[in-house]
Amino acid sequence: MNGPQWLFGYGSLIWKQDFPFIEARPAFIDGWVRRFWQGSHDHRGVPDDPGRVVTLIEAPGERCYGRAFLIEPDVFEHLDDREVNGYERHRVDVHFDDSQLLGVVYIGHVGNFAFLGDAPLEDMAAQIRRCAGPSGRNVDYVVELARALRDLGVTDPHVFELEARVLQTDSC
Ligand code: SIN
Repeated sequence: MNGPQWLFGYGSLIWKQDFPFIEARPAFIDGWVRRFWQGSHDHRGVPDDPGRVVTLIEAPGERCYGRAFLIEPDVFEHLDDREVNGYERHRVDVHFDDSQLLGVVYIGHVGNFAFLGDAPLEDMAAQIRRCAGPSGRNVDYVVELARALRDLGVTDPHVFELEARVLQTDSC
């Protein structure tokens, strides 16, 4: 596809823009939920002790709110590298307040090599509290994502409950 495209961000892309973009807008996609079910061996953990970051899980009837960025096609080269740990580009309808456009989202599909899946909240919090990688502490990923969602006026119980649990037990 030629020309600028909309990239839907729902995790670190919402709050960490190390890529150029033309425009950013609040947006949502339907049929997916955000979950801390993806392992991070390269950013928020290491190969022997991966951290936990978000991916999208198919959930008919559900809606995932995030932030969409209009980017030039060559920016995908950098993003593919950043999202290399199990994420793949996926075509999706990106919804704005007043319109809908075909865009792209990075998803770590169920069963990819870095996929961790569900676990009790306390276990996920303990893993996140323990882990760190080249991009920093796993705790900071959770806190920054929760902050960015609040700034967007988005409520996500999964993220907020995990944040509360991680901060309760974060002794650093
Ligand atoms: C995203 O933010 O859209 C993808 C997942 C991540 O990089 O945290």
